[in-house]
Amino acid sequence: MKILVLHGPNLNLLGTREPGVYGNVSLAEIDAQLMSWAQQRGIGLRCAQSNHEGVLVDTIQAAASQQVDGILINAGAYTHTSIALRDALLATALPFVEVHLSNTHGRESFRRRSLLADRAVGVVCGFGDLSYRLGLEGLVAALERQADERN
Ligand code: DQA
Repeated sequence: MKILVLHGPNLNLLGTREPGVYGNVSLAEIDAQLMSWAQQRGIGLRCAQSNHEGVLVDTIQAAASQQVDGILINAGAYTHTSIALRDALLATALPFVEVHLSNTHGRESFRRRSLLADRAVGVVCGFGDLSYRLGLEGLVAALERQADERN
């Protein structure tokens, strides 16, 4: 199983960015935690981050031809604005899980709207860096169930 973990804008600043909202754990630490969880289960993981919408679209498009089975995505602020990211995810038709460190429903009203969530396998938010692990577990479980149903 191969999974792409995609982080959107400003998530490269995790660890120092608004620690009261996003915690003290850096993006490198989050990626390392996910890698170790995945390795123990024989799952291939690739982590990527970009501040640029077009680069994120390119990375999602490329996933389809790289035998990726599913995408774990924290699209950051693009979650709330980007039809392009939504279209790219739908174009690949790959199952994806949306994650957020913060509880986006308990913050400003504009963060309550996601342009991705209705097409996601599931959404995890509000658990800090743990949101990623929980989201990854959910995605893996969904992919395994899908594979079982096919056999
Ligand atoms: C975020 C929530 C978004 O609203 C915000 O723009 C981010 C981070 C989160 O992980 O909590 O950049 O996706």
